[in-house]
Amino acid sequence: MRILVTGGAGFIGSHVAVGFRAQGHEVAIVDDLSTGNPKNVHPETKLYQHDIRDADLESVFREFRPEVVDHHAAQANVPASVTDPVHDASVNVLGGLNLLRLSAAYGVKKFIYISSGGAMYGEPDPRQLPVKESAPVRPLSPYGASKQALEAWLGVYQRTFGLDYSVLRYANIYGPRQSIREEGAVVAVFATRMAVDKPVTIDGTGQQSRDFVYVGDCVTANLAALERGSGLAFNIGTGRETSIREIFDAMAEVAGYTQTPNFGPARTGDVMRIALDPSLARTELRWQASVPLHAGLARTYAFFRDGAS
Ligand SMILES: NC(=O)c1ccc[n+]([C@@H]2O[C@H](COP(=O)([O-])OP(=O)(O)OC[C@H]3O[C@@H](n4cnc5c(N)ncnc54)[C@H](O)[C@@H]3O)[C@@H](O)[C@H]2O)c1
Repeated sequence: MRILVTGGAGFIGSHVAVGFRAQGHEVAIVDDLSTGNPKNVHPETKLYQHDIRDADLESVFREFRPEVVDHHAAQANVPASVTDPVHDASVNVLGGLNLLRLSAAYGVKKFIYISSGGAMYGEPDPRQLPVKESAPVRPLSPYGASKQALEAWLGVYQRTFGLDYSVLRYANIYGPRQSIREEGAVVAVFATRMAVDKPVTIDGTGQQSRDFVYVGDCVTANLAALERGSGLAFNIGTGRETSIREIFDAMAEVAGYTQTPNFGPARTGDVMRIALDPSLARTELRWQASVPLHAGLARTYAFFRDGAS
């Protein structure tokens, strides 16, 4: 299939693009390189350097004629969305809408939208953990709201224009190529610091928990969404909570790091506990996370250690 991956020069999109290629699909990428890096793009994959909001994005659809659009491009930084919510919504809502409009006009068969389960459910009732897709949507940041907002237009485009879609609501994704500037990149930050034996600071008590998914498991989720999951939104998580302190300890073990952590102030607006129930993805997409935390951390550490040396 011809698959257009937006944000394919970024952390997760670049892994997904490689995964599609490995399955024999023809892949092209749209990325404005605002946070992405052309080095993340396979040399034989066409990179269209465009902003997804631009009117001239149509030239990409005219030339490449995608059968699937896999939409990873986003303003993906939570504090940046707080500072400039208008820019955040402009990229995440209007940019997404521009893609939907063109996808319908050019007969795209499936639109895979990457949403955020870590941001859109906000601080769930602890009794509801891990949260199901039906949990109340109560984002704490403009980013969580803008990511969730586009999901409404997917329904419109399906019902009114016949554009099929699936939504993948990612948990906390980690792995090689993650930028340490990215929000929630705690694994990348710990790996980078530990690789050069620098002190590590944990924000808050370290007892706050997240649902960590290795980036390779996002690749298999996107492959599954090519075939299945029409018109549905899926949590892409493990269902397990891991505390930041546990991540520190596990990464220290992988890295042979012996320093104790420092503790800084807790960050305002940070969710205390989150984990996503992946049952629906298991039954409908036939997907589940398969990379154990320790193995994923070891691969991630090796990437940052080799980059540091
Ligand atoms: N990293 C996580 O844990 C996580 C969790 C939930 C959801 N997500 C979602 O996954 C997707 C990928 O995130 P990531 O972590 O790889 O971030 P990233 O910043 O590495 O990737 C985003 C990519 O989009 C590109 N981009 C940004 N604005 C653009 C625009 N206007 N036009 C064209 N390209 C643009 C960037 O250059 C970058 O390559 C995003 O949609 C994000 O919201 C990520």
